Amino acid sequence: MRVLVTGGAGYIGTHLVVDLLSDGHDVAILDNFSTGHVEGLERAQRLAGRSVRLFSGDIANPTLLKRALQRADVVFHLAGSKQVGESMQHPELYFQNNVSGMIALLSAMQQSGVTRIVYSSSAAVYGPQAQMPLTEDAMLSPESPYGLTKAQGEQYLDWMARRHGWSAISLRYFNPVGAHSSGHIGEPFEQAASLVPRALKVLTQESEPLTVFGTDYDTPDGTCLRDYIHISDLSRAHLTAMTALDRSGHRIYNVGTGRAHSVREVLAACQRVTGQQVPHVLGDRRAGDVPVAIADPARFRTETGFMPWLGLDKMIASAWKWWQDNPSGYTSDKPSQTIDAREPWPSTRCAGAEHW
Ligand SMILES: NC(=O)c1ccc[n+]([C@@H]2O[C@H](COP(=O)([O-])OP(=O)(O)OC[C@H]3O[C@@H](n4cnc5c(N)ncnc54)[C@H](O)[C@@H]3O)[C@@H](O)[C@H]2O)c1
Repeated sequence: MRVLVTGGAGYIGTHLVVDLLSDGHDVAILDNFSTGHVEGLERAQRLAGRSVRLFSGDIANPTLLKRALQRADVVFHLAGSKQVGESMQHPELYFQNNVSGMIALLSAMQQSGVTRIVYSSSAAVYGPQAQMPLTEDAMLSPESPYGLTKAQGEQYLDWMARRHGWSAISLRYFNPVGAHSSGHIGEPFEQAASLVPRALKVLTQESEPLTVFGTDYDTPDGTCLRDYIHISDLSRAHLTAMTALDRSGHRIYNVGTGRAHSVREVLAACQRVTGQQVPHVLGDRRAGDVPVAIADPARFRTETGFMPWLGLDKMIASAWKWWQDNPSGYTSDKPSQTIDAREPWPSTRCAGAEHW
């Protein structure tokens, strides 16, 4: 397949790029490098031993979009802003990037006759629910502007499927954790906002002890429960979704494991994996945190056969390798060579086709 990955230089995108290239697909990337890293993309290409076509720029640019979509069969739409806290501070930025950006993409796809898409949605579309685990039919009541933008994106895809016969799949990711097994690509350190990277940061860099937000929730050990998924399983979920784009309509799937871990369990797993206790302090509840968020992954499994393979210790072990092997994270932010987006694809030029 010829695929376009928007946001392919980001945390999830780089892992997906390795898998797509390794599976023999022709891959184009459209990314403005606002949070993505050139070095991550270069490493992804070296890991796969094959190259992508890079369209460096914004999804709001219709000319660039048109070029990137030429001859594409499928789009993976990952580009966007993802920080819940930032969206509470600056909702307008999220409406601009996630909503306007997506509208620009959908318009360009329709004009180019590209009607298959896998969309990065999020568990943030759900509100605090009484009923756990969360099925895809649970009521949507996003608690943040970020969650709202993701829910709106899903609704646009509903209409594109209904009115134009598109084939679309929205994947509602739960909590992606971990890194590529090689240790060469992982979650950029500056994005270390979620529990596991925060814990590993405390262990590898001189920083304040981790704060556990809330120990008086109505959960077995008083701390919040979350459903974590290994980044490699999440990447594989995209390949599964692509093969399921065989009929028109919009389908929505939770991508989680259906197993929840408390904050204390995650810290214990970090200690098991690293051999070190994560220095931490017990703090008050944090505004906006729901006590429990667990996916019901049954629909995705039943309809596509997808099953996550890797458990919490594997997630943490891979992230730990990434943190240890790359003490400075991604360092270079300049392409090592220019990739000309006007060339027809598949490209034969890339940052390096040799393996490590
Ligand atoms: N990581 C998570 O915890 C998580 C959870 C649920 C959903 N998601 C969604 O998955 C997607 C990918 O997340 P990620 O963790 O890889 O984030 P990321 O920030 O690492 O990657 C996003 C990529 O999109 C690019 N980008 C952003 N705005 C762009 C624009 N206007 N034009 C072109 N490129 C643009 C960035 O440069 C970056 O490379 C996002 O849409 C995010 O909302 C992520």
